[in-house]
Parts: sequence; structure tokens; C-alpha cells
Amino acid sequence: MNDAAPEPPELFTWEFATDPYPAYAWLREHAPVHRTRLPSGVEAWLVTRYGDARQALADQRLSKNPAHHDEPAHAKGKTGIPGERKAELMTHLLNIDPPDHTRLRRLVSKAFTPRRVAEFAPRVQELTGRLIDTIVAKQDGAAQGEADLIHEFAFPLPIYAICDMLGVPPEDQDDFRDWAGMMIRHGGGPRGGVARSVKKMRGYLAELIHRKREAPGDDLISGLIKASDHGEHLTENEAAAMAFILLFAGFETTVNLIGNGVYALLRHPEQRARLQASLAAGDSTLLETGVEELLRFDGPVELATWRFATEPLTLGGQDIGVGDPVLVVLAAADRDPDRFPGPDVLDLARRDNQHLGYGHGIHYCLGAPLARLEGQTALATLLTRLPDLQLAVDPSELRWRGGLIMRGLRTLPVRFTSQTS
Ligand code: HEM
Repeated sequence: MNDAAPEPPELFTWEFATDPYPAYAWLREHAPVHRTRLPSGVEAWLVTRYGDARQALADQRLSKNPAHHDEPAHAKGKTGIPGERKAELMTHLLNIDPPDHTRLRRLVSKAFTPRRVAEFAPRVQELTGRLIDTIVAKQDGAAQGEADLIHEFAFPLPIYAICDMLGVPPEDQDDFRDWAGMMIRHGGGPRGGVARSVKKMRGYLAELIHRKREAPGDDLISGLIKASDHGEHLTENEAAAMAFILLFAGFETTVNLIGNGVYALLRHPEQRARLQASLAAGDSTLLETGVEELLRFDGPVELATWRFATEPLTLGGQDIGVGDPVLVVLAAADRDPDRFPGPDVLDLARRDNQHLGYGHGIHYCLGAPLARLEGQTALATLLTRLPDLQLAVDPSELRWRGGLIMRGLRTLPVRFTSQTS
């Protein structure tokens, strides 16, 4: 670290959660690989420059297996690192390394294909339309309609979408919504409710997998059971853990893509007007580049998930010891001026936009095609059907959810006067 530099900014405060970008700019400049004490008490390295971030995400010496964490608190389950609770559902793609990771990822990729996602597009459109119908119906003839876009739109869309895709019958989907809601509300907080929700989900998934084995359909769970690679199949536990990680990794991320994305558009009226004009002209080019830009500008995953050094290594000129946790700050890397010209400007038409919002390397987001489909459908439908959507509160009143990994709003109150069907 540069001796002449001022003290590092305070991280993980309320102000930081509201706008972490100035602190990240400071770190990128003065302490690009920075050791800090997290709110849980664990010490970890934060990696904030784009080049270092890409290198770290692809570095096989950084393991995803929490057993490599060299910290006594880990054994007591106090670090907030999900994999430390040895629950069966936690042995999933984001907590394992090759060769196990290679085998499981190959198997899931046979079932969760871009083609399956593409075929799902009409269903996502239907779900999106239905949620907007419900918001509009509440207006009930009043001149002005109001809604909380997080709870009434961004939250239900991904949970119903992934439930449908997995093959969870409609009558059970509200249970999933409740369990997922518990996890999102208390992700970093009290363990009791979250642990109970995980347990219920585990029981439910085990039974569903059993039923699908008896009577397969063309849903994703049946696909996971059937998937085979050189004669290998997923065990029932592996299939349940896989369904769980698809739900878990695909839920809050997509809520935040929609929430953060709509919020950014509402705060950049000229960009939003350009997007609305291009949608009205039937052109989806700006929508496609725009969703990527929203991921770069204020993406759902602020920090990539935990990594642990399995041997001594040097990153950005900094020595990292065996067992040290490393957290790659995707949100900081994606605003690195050495990679993105004018990084703090939202430019929906930005080209050469290789952001790290979906990660990089062997753990690159498996659900990116589904996330893109949901994000594009949600934004296009919302802006087309509620064209004069406005924030209903001053931005200073908005609160961001706490928690280390994800970045998302608690609520997004909006109002609208006109709507199209
Ligand atoms: C906008 C929405 C999303 C964002 C921003 C996002 C972001 C990410 C990121 C950054 C990673 C890598 C984490 C790391 O290396 O530490 C990841 C991995 C993953 N994502 Fe996503 N994700 C999104 C949606 C989804 C969806 C919809 C699904 C599935 C339904 C999904 C499933 C996964 C899985 C299974 C992994 C682990 C892959 C592996 O370890 O091989 N994600 N995602």
C-alpha cells in the first residue's frame, strides 16, 4: 500500500451499502488487494482491479472448498461462509473444485441447456405479464397506481420461473416462495429460520426427485435425473443439491438484476427514454446491450463467492498465505477505468463490455442465459406496459439489503399513471 495515501475508507457501513463505489475507487487506486476484517470478524483479502479480479477468478490455487479456510471460527460455524454448515445441500458447484466440479457441471449442463432456456421464453413472458396485470388491477380505476416493484414484481418472477422450469407443481410454488423469502430476508442474519427453510426445502426436493424418478416429465429435475456422462449419473443427493443451487443462485441474483436495473433506469431518464424508443420501434439491440450494461453498472453480485488459497501466491503484488480467504469484488472490477472508459457512466449502448457480473473461469454463471431472458423480458415488458413509471420516494429513502455477497434494494416504491395492455 502507498504510505502517502490517506486511511482506507470505512467499509460495510450503512453509507457504504448505499453507495460503495467511491470506497471501491479508493481501494482500486491505493490498495487493490486489501486485507480487511469483515463484519463477521473473519479477515479476508478484497480484490478490486479488473485484471487481478479476472486472474483470481480463474486461479486454480484458489479453492472453493471452505475446508481450506484456515480459521478457528470456521469450525464453530460463525464466519457466515455457507459451506461451513455441512448440510448435504451445501455440497454444490460453488463449494467444490475439479475434478468433482468438472463432473457435476458436465452433468448439469446436459440438462440445463441454452435450448431449454430458449424454449422457456413464452412462459417467462406470460409470468411477467401476469405480475404486471396484478399490479395494474390494484390501481382499480384510480388516477395513479402504486407498487413496490421488489415485492410485487422482481421477487416473484424468478422464483416462479425457476420452480416452473424445475418442475415444482403450481400448488407447491408458494411454499417455495416462502422458504426463498426467508433466505433472502435473513441470509446474513438469524440462522434458525433459514436453517428450517433449508431443511424443509431439502425434504421437499428429496420427495420431488423420488416422484420424478417414478414418473419423469420434460422438466429440469427429470432432466437432471436422466443426465448421464460416460455412464455416470447424479446421485439423489447430488440432484437435490443441484436443484437447490439452481434455486439459490438463480433467485436473489435475478431479483437484484431487475431491482437494481429498474432503479438505474429511473435515475437516468435519458437512457431510459432511448430504451423505450428503441423498444417501441421493435428493436431489441439496445435492450440486449442495456441489460449487460446494467449488470456492469450496478450488478446483483457485489462480491464473488468465497475462495481460499491452497498454496502461497502473489496477487496484484500482494502475498497471500495458505488458507487465507479471497473475495473478488466484481462491483469494483466492473468500474475499473483501466478496463471501461467512463466507468461511472451508464451507457446502455456500451460495446466491448466484458463485465464480470456473471463471474469468469470454471465457475462462470451456469444460469446466465436464463438470467438474460428474465432480465430482458422483465425490463422490456415493464417499460412498455407502464411507460411513465416513476420513483415514488426520494432515493435517499431507499434501503439496501445487508449481506456480503449480494447487492439489492429492500423495496422499490414506484408510481405510474398510464398503462397499456
Ligand atoms: C442476473 C442474474 C445472475 C447473476 C448476476 C449471476 C451471477 C453469478 C456469478 C457471479 C457466479 C460466479 C460466482 C463465483 O465464481 O464466485 C454465478 C455462478 C452460478 N450461477 Fe449465476 N447469476 C445469475 C443468475 C443465475 C440463474 C438464473 C441461475 C440458475 C437458475 C444461476 C446459477 C448459477 C450457478 C449454478 C452457478 C455456479 C456455477 C459453478 O460453480 O460452476 N445464476 N452466478
